[in-house]
This record gives sequence, C-alpha cells and structure tokens, in this order.
Amino acid sequence: MKRVAILLSGGGSNMVALVRSMAGDHPARPCLVLSNDPGAGGLDRARDMGIATAAVPHRPFAGDRAGFESALSRPLEAAAPDILCLAGFMRILTPAFIERWRGRILNIHPSLLPAYRGLDTHARALADGAAEAGCTVHEVTAALDDGPILGQARVSVRPGDTAATLAARVLVQEHRLYPAVLRRFAACDRRPVWLDATDHVAG
Ligand code: GAR
Repeated sequence: MKRVAILLSGGGSNMVALVRSMAGDHPARPCLVLSNDPGAGGLDRARDMGIATAAVPHRPFAGDRAGFESALSRPLEAAAPDILCLAGFMRILTPAFIERWRGRILNIHPSLLPAYRGLDTHARALADGAAEAGCTVHEVTAALDDGPILGQARVSVRPGDTAATLAARVLVQEHRLYPAVLRRFAACDRRPVWLDATDHVAG
C-alpha cells in the first residue's frame, strides 16, 4: 500500500476528493495533510476525516526557502510518504526539494498545460477568447507548472463565463481528474488520463 502526503494552502476540496478516493481496492492511503498556512480550511477538513495533519507557516522564513523546506520536511519525512500530491499548494518548491522526491510529486494546475502556467489562469484564458479551459495533473519538475503530463480534463468555455464560473466548472473536473490520475500513478501506471466534461454548448 502506497502512502500519500497531500500539501495544500487553501480550502482543500481536491484533498477531500483524493482522500475519499483512497478506499477499498485503491493502492494508496493518505498518511498526512500538510500546509504552509495553519489557518488553511483544508487542515480542518482533513482532521474531520481522521487524517494526520501538520502546518509549517512559511512567513517566519521570508526569503529563506531552504529553511522553510527543511522545516516542512520534518513532518513529511516522519510520515514517510511514497507520493506527494500538491493540491492547491501555493508555494514554489526548490530544485533541491523536488530532487529529494524526484518522480514522486504530483500537482494539479487549473489550465490545459502548457497553456497558462502560473496564476489567474481562467481570467487569462477568457481574455484570450479561448474556446476550452480545463485542468492538468503533472509530475513536478524544477520548472514551474511543467513536467510530464499525467492527465487533463477539458471543459468548454460558455458565453457569459466569468473567471469565477469557469473556475467552478473546472474545479468539478479537478475532483474527477486528480483521483483518477493518483489511482493509476499509485499502481505505477503512468499512462495519461484524458477526461472530457461532455458539457459542450451547441453553436
Ligand atoms: C485548485 O483549483 C487548484 O487547481 C489550484 O488551486 C485550487 C485549490 O483548490 N492550484 C493552483 O493554482 C496551483 N498553481 P482546493 O484547495 O479547493 O483544492
């Protein structure tokens, strides 16, 4: 059975989807939910589900990423995960940290990578008049929002969409995609998962 640590900074809806998926014949189980924000809503949700949690605030380490990561690594190493899932974890990790867990870190990003790396993905897609949006799960490498793609889910942009309505529709797909990718990845199957929301608006 693989052990999965989930790193988050916010509400943790992807974490909840991942934790719920790891049951029955799933080849992995959650071992830790870890945050850079002690106030992250995701920590409460994890505790409610009986998952061990830890928080390492990044603010005291301003400008000292290596110091922050060495503090973050303490609870992480103690939990001995096989796989790290970044689920709305909004800190950039150093190459040294990524090297330590090479080939074992997954991330979900709210765009169809390689389009729209970074922040404000939905607003940027709308500003460009994109017909489709979506999300990507990829292996984390030292380059930001890069690394081998392990799955994507696509949604159509609808007339009148705002960044908020699009984000909400993509988030529903994130909750399908991330568990589907993790299930395969935990079974050492790296074939990408392609999902289509099949909610295309005619015309
Ligand atoms: C998700 O939409 C995720 O794709 C995004 O943050 C949100 C977290 O929501 N991640 C990034 O933007 C990473 N650069 P959640 O806390 O409800 O899972």
